[in-house]
Amino acid sequence: MDQSKIWKGNWTFVLAAAGAAVGLGNIWKFPYLAGESGGGAFVIVYLLCILLLGLPIMIAEIYIGRYGRKSPINSVKRIINDFNLNKLWLILGWLGALAGLLILSYYSVIAGIAASYIFSSIPASELNPAEYSVEHYSNFKSSPLTMIFWHSLFIGVTCYVVGKGVVDGIGRAINILMPILFFLVIVLCIYSSVTGEFIKTFTFLFNPDFSKITPEVVITAMGQAFFTLSIGMGSIMAYGAYMPQEQMIGKTVLIVIFLDTLVALLAGFTIFPIVFSNPELSVFVGKGLLFESLPVAFHSMPLGAIFHSIFFILVSIAALSSSVSLIEPFTAWIEEEKIFSRLKGVIILGLIAWFIGLGTVFSDNIWANYEISGLNFFEWTTVLTDQFMLPLGGLLICLLVGFFIPRVELEKDLNLTGNISKVFSVCLKIVAPLSVLLIFGYALS
Ligand code: TRP
Repeated sequence: MDQSKIWKGNWTFVLAAAGAAVGLGNIWKFPYLAGESGGGAFVIVYLLCILLLGLPIMIAEIYIGRYGRKSPINSVKRIINDFNLNKLWLILGWLGALAGLLILSYYSVIAGIAASYIFSSIPASELNPAEYSVEHYSNFKSSPLTMIFWHSLFIGVTCYVVGKGVVDGIGRAINILMPILFFLVIVLCIYSSVTGEFIKTFTFLFNPDFSKITPEVVITAMGQAFFTLSIGMGSIMAYGAYMPQEQMIGKTVLIVIFLDTLVALLAGFTIFPIVFSNPELSVFVGKGLLFESLPVAFHSMPLGAIFHSIFFILVSIAALSSSVSLIEPFTAWIEEEKIFSRLKGVIILGLIAWFIGLGTVFSDNIWANYEISGLNFFEWTTVLTDQFMLPLGGLLICLLVGFFIPRVELEKDLNLTGNISKVFSVCLKIVAPLSVLLIFGYALS
């Protein structure tokens, strides 16, 4: 790889990876899944999955990218060639490319809703803000054209940024905007914890009722752990290709995982206190939770309308820094193979994702009654990607790095010694793959 493409300094990788990881998964998805799946039971399985699966898999995924120094598909190819492995391992690269498009298809619809919310704070004179908020979201959902407009806008901006090259455009923006988002989430969290039902939230999230741990809760929590960390698909692998050779992968991963988990928990402590103190709001509403609850908090805050808009601007930006990482791996491959230019490649991929995304738009209105096994189109897309494709990708990553890369190579590259190396090896070869397989088996049981 040409040296100029390798990021300078250690922080660029951390910010890019945190930018990919922190997004709708933390602010929108974590709270609504926790709400639907009974709070504490879900949270404890989720945290376990982050630690037991997220940590080793993220390290292994970055390792593959940094070793190959190319797009995920070609980095895997390089490992296949260098270590004389079966060509079937390439499935890992292709599975990820496909998962990226599928995730982007609905990610962009939700990010579009967030972007539209920049302009729709609850009027200050409104006497029943919770009722207003629920109604506003419901009206928004019932209009496919409005949803398509925002979906198209978001995917268009994503393609524009990726077309320009990820490092210059978005790299610089993230440096400034991510810290602001972080700060605002903390302020909001303090505000709603003080004014809303903090204790109830704490009990809800951290007091697990073990009888609520069902196969569905476990597989949902595992899917969310993969989703929120952006692992199992190639996003993090693609960024690994730009990581300086001397940067410590293990330490870096710890920072990224810590930040990601912190933002998810803060989002929980922002949203639930509001939901619990307004009887019109419910924790079971699914994907509308963020959009129904937060505007209510802003309504009661001084200068709320302004904070409302700033917040949704920042959420849109956090979503953008994640969505670019969903389409970057496939685009990088098209560019590398000289099939099309970067711009043309990303436009074609964007159009495919846009088209699939229409299914998610229609799940809220004209297709609302079409369900297969109780799930609509949007739910099928999320289940297929989070609960199947990402964990399968993660499993392949563990097995590839755990069993087929010689231990000395790994120790050298990851700077591992003695016991830490042993623990890591056991995690990669046994703990992580076995956990994924057990959870798959449990979910099917
Ligand atoms: N992790 C991001 C979020 O929480 C979404 C995301 C970006 C992602 N790249 C990914 C999810 C790769 C799975 C795989 O919003």
